Amino acid sequence: MKITVLTYLDSDNENSKEYDPVVSQVARTLRRLGHRVSVLGVHGDVKRLIAGLSRRKPDLVFNLMEMFGDNVFGDIPVTGLLDLLGVRYTGSGPGELYLSQDKGLTKKLLAFEEILYPRYAIFSRQAAFETGGNLRMPLFVKPLRSDASLGIGGKSLVHDAAALMERVAAIQKELDDAALAEEYIEGREFYVGVLGNAQPKALPPVEVDFTGFPEGVPKVMDSKAKWDEGSKEYKGTKSVMATLPDELRARLQKVAVDAYRALRVRDYGRVDLRLTDTGGIYVLEVNASCYLEKSSEFAMAAAAAGLDYPRLIEEVVNLAIDRQKRRR
Ligand SMILES: Nc1ncnc2c1ncn2[C@@H]1O[C@H](COP(=O)(O)OP(=O)(O)OP(=O)(O)O)[C@@H](O)[C@H]1O
Ligand SMILES: [Mg+2]
Repeated sequence: MKITVLTYLDSDNENSKEYDPVVSQVARTLRRLGHRVSVLGVHGDVKRLIAGLSRRKPDLVFNLMEMFGDNVFGDIPVTGLLDLLGVRYTGSGPGELYLSQDKGLTKKLLAFEEILYPRYAIFSRQAAFETGGNLRMPLFVKPLRSDASLGIGGKSLVHDAAALMERVAAIQKELDDAALAEEYIEGREFYVGVLGNAQPKALPPVEVDFTGFPEGVPKVMDSKAKWDEGSKEYKGTKSVMATLPDELRARLQKVAVDAYRALRVRDYGRVDLRLTDTGGIYVLEVNASCYLEKSSEFAMAAAAAGLDYPRLIEEVVNLAIDRQKRRR
């Protein structure tokens, strides 16, 4: 097949064409699988995006777009544009991406399926205050829609109203996003990858091991733990394949598949969960079209399930093609 790997370029790399490492990994893998592969990186230029696609005429776009220009939510309209252009692509479409990126809407869909989630309140500048019941401190305050732990840090856990309102204001101002305050769920943290459409299957759970985390700070994957390689938080956390009794593993996987279905995720995604010591499994978020980098939790879990990287990438392609064949 003729496959175009579509990716974003942030403003720093607009001219250097330095892509996210996942781009060359996926492109190389697709080539090895026998496809004719091109890479299209766009910073925020719609005309360039359309022209690039018209020139390449791919049978399939492998969609690794995470933002568009400086718009961190731009991945959503890009999939809408692909739909309008009649181009087939991997992963979720605009509707599915919107649902899972809005952590408030996500909860409403989870509620219908009776899946547990932290109780919450939303503070939006445009809309009225919205809450899903009485909240108990401490609360965890994060942006409603931004991902990659943007806006999540040492101050995210708040113990009183003053600190809560301070975080809310900071998120609204700095990230131009509504703020979401959630009850803090103390417990083990798991990431469960899911693959599939008609019959989605969960991969084995990955656990975040916080053993080396500094004392006295809440054990959360904040922006330091995720991205700041020199920090104690980064060094103190690692993702490992979870060691679990079969029954618990099966329960985590069931919740993940139920959440994936509830959000209508397509092809692949990852569900972030917390497990309390009384056995409650809470969905923190659903990541449609999650990060596919070779050392990501998703790829790690796939490998543990016997899908090495080439087979994982091939599976994503096959799922996307089958899904779109069925629709036509
Ligand atoms: N209600 C909560 N209770 C406890 N910890 C939480 C809660 N919400 C978030 N966290 C912690 O913060 C981290 C990031 O939160 P979340 O996954 O919602 O944000 P994100 O920025 O969308 O992350 P990602 O990079 O996975 O897209 C979680 O992995 C978890 O460690
Ligand atoms: Mg997360």
